[in-house]
Amino acid sequence: MKKKLTDMAIAMREKSHSPYSKYKVGAAVQTENGLIFGGCNIESSSYGLTCCAERVAIYNAISAGYKKITSLAVATENGGMPCGACRQVVWDLCRNIPIYICNKTGYMKTVYSIEILPDAFDNTFLK
Ligand code: THU
Repeated sequence: MKKKLTDMAIAMREKSHSPYSKYKVGAAVQTENGLIFGGCNIESSSYGLTCCAERVAIYNAISAGYKKITSLAVATENGGMPCGACRQVVWDLCRNIPIYICNKTGYMKTVYSIEILPDAFDNTFLK
């Protein structure tokens, strides 16, 4: 199942809309019932409005009705890591899940949300 997810993330790079950075990112999430949803980075001419591949994949799953995400794969040219904003969103919406980091040809390593965003701010501080 990990292979299917990493293959999907690598394939999703081809959907990337990144005319400004030319840095293609693909992502895929797996839900608790085994479904896989993909995402790619989508850039805006107003650069700050760009949405990362990880967030597009997560929002894709949630908007299809699947809230429980159990793993995430991210693929870039060179094994780039999730940005800070995505780390926060992953923690908020998926909690501590394995994240499979890939380059353009295959799987490289696994990290967990909790290790890449230690001492996170989250909803537990809001109630
Ligand atoms: N990008 C992602 O899609 N995910 C990340 O975690 C890091 C950055 C995108 C945003 C932008 O389109 C391009 O990579 C260069 O920053």
